[in-house]
Amino acid sequence: MTADENTHRAKDVVGLLEGLSTTRAIRRYVDEPIPEDVLRDIMFAATRAPSGSNRQPFRFLVLTDSAVAQQAKALIAVGAQKMWAQKRVNDGYDVGTGIQADSPKSRMANVMQEYVDNFARVPVLVLACLVRYREPTPSEGASVYPACQNILLAARALGYGGVLTGFQAFAETELRELLHIPDDTALAGAITLGKPVGHHGPVRRVPMDELIYGDQWGTSPLWAIDPPGTAVMARRTPAENPTVTKK
Ligand SMILES: Cc1cc2nc3c(=O)[nH]c(=O)nc-3n(C[C@H](O)[C@H](O)[C@H](O)COP(=O)(O)O)c2cc1C
Repeated sequence: MTADENTHRAKDVVGLLEGLSTTRAIRRYVDEPIPEDVLRDIMFAATRAPSGSNRQPFRFLVLTDSAVAQQAKALIAVGAQKMWAQKRVNDGYDVGTGIQADSPKSRMANVMQEYVDNFARVPVLVLACLVRYREPTPSEGASVYPACQNILLAARALGYGGVLTGFQAFAETELRELLHIPDDTALAGAITLGKPVGHHGPVRRVPMDELIYGDQWGTSPLWAIDPPGTAVMARRTPAENPTVTKK
């Protein structure tokens, strides 16, 4: 294999800052596999992530189209469907603006429903794991989730997309048995990947002055202003975010 043959199949032309602000949660995929060399590049990005003391306790099970992979996807699909059915009720997705066909709420509900209904057919499922070397600590996720974000960013760069979910939790016992995951290893997340139906685009977040403080809690520095043209979510109500003032 020449150096050229060993490089990215899809050209990486997205700048880092643009990429990270346009990497959306992609839950709808074209029904086609991710080529192995692209998958290699995406998972290589995962292995470049930082971790505490550079221990690299992250491990990734990459499940594509084997019989075992299909079983794992099907197990998680059932759990995800149950979870979403419950959340749909609890979070009121079928009341208020949820019943207006084109409201953001009903669009989100439709995407989620389609996602869980088709979960067993996602092109790639990555189970993110963390090999523990000590008792669980609140910060241990910091040694696996940066790698998960690297996966999503690399997928974005290469024309693919995905989303990190906690759906593995609904089938953890069965997944451990099926995939021979050791007891000292935590299942940190289930990432689905594929070629997006639709496309990435600017993520929508609350304005940065709600999230960035200066010298005091709740006081936002004057420079903390979203760049012009940033897609923002509605400002949260004072009750939701009571403390912010401008310095
Ligand atoms: C810790 C964490 C857990 C998440 N769990 C789920 C999940 O279980 N199911 C799901 O569909 N998306 C899940 N997501 C994706 C979020 O819903 C998504 O990142 C968020 O809505 C922002 O979407 P956007 O980047 O497209 O704006 C999770 C994200 C994170 C960081």
